[in-house]
Amino acid sequence: MDLLWEQYKAITPQADSIQNLLIKNGEPEVINDHIAFRTIKSKKIGINTISSYFEALGYEKKEDYIFEEKKLVAIHLEHPDDKNPKIFISEILPEKLSSFSQKICKELILRSPHDSLIFSGSPWDKTYKTYKKLYEESEYLAWFYLHGFIANHFTVSVNHLKTISSIEEVNELIKKENFPLNTSGGEIKGSKEELLKQSSTLASKMIMTFNDGEFEVPTCFYEFAQRFPRKDGALFQGFIAKSADKIFESTN
Ligand code: NI
Repeated sequence: MDLLWEQYKAITPQADSIQNLLIKNGEPEVINDHIAFRTIKSKKIGINTISSYFEALGYEKKEDYIFEEKKLVAIHLEHPDDKNPKIFISEILPEKLSSFSQKICKELILRSPHDSLIFSGSPWDKTYKTYKKLYEESEYLAWFYLHGFIANHFTVSVNHLKTISSIEEVNELIKKENFPLNTSGGEIKGSKEELLKQSSTLASKMIMTFNDGEFEVPTCFYEFAQRFPRKDGALFQGFIAKSADKIFESTN
């Protein structure tokens, strides 16, 4: 988890700044609600391969999700000790994409390593031209082409914050420091009735070296989640597909 955080914050400086802001605000520590990964459906690098790293640590698969329009499916895993973040893993379905995107998917799968996959980043040659072409069809796949295996986002558990009691307050705090929020679907996705409210920043940016030059591209974003109790009193631990659908757009 520490290595995943280090790799993520290296290209997402705003996450580190916001975490420091929360600590400066009086938080003794910042607990993560979940960490998210993106991948491509396949035997070698699909959801089951990514999840096996976490199952080896005692995580269990919980729910499945479908994102028809974005051509994605996803699952989430939970750990018996709820101080460990949930893991949200999505994969794009190549069979639903154009032959160009399918060809790129095949290449990325081929170039992915068998060992230490979740720490391997994007170990393939990249051209800006290919990135732009992928972007036209799937922002999700274009992002994966840039960054590959790295946490797409970490998510602050608002429920675990001691000095702040709502996601609305978190949003106010970070807006005051001029971090831009993703407003697709509204600043806050979900509601108390749906048992989960989420918000996220817009992805940081970095200059990336491609085979055809240097260009500015989006990296990762930081998310915030506040959960509410179900009828039985236990906090809802799942995800709302309609909200997650908008959160994906934080890397647009
Ligand atoms: Ni998320």
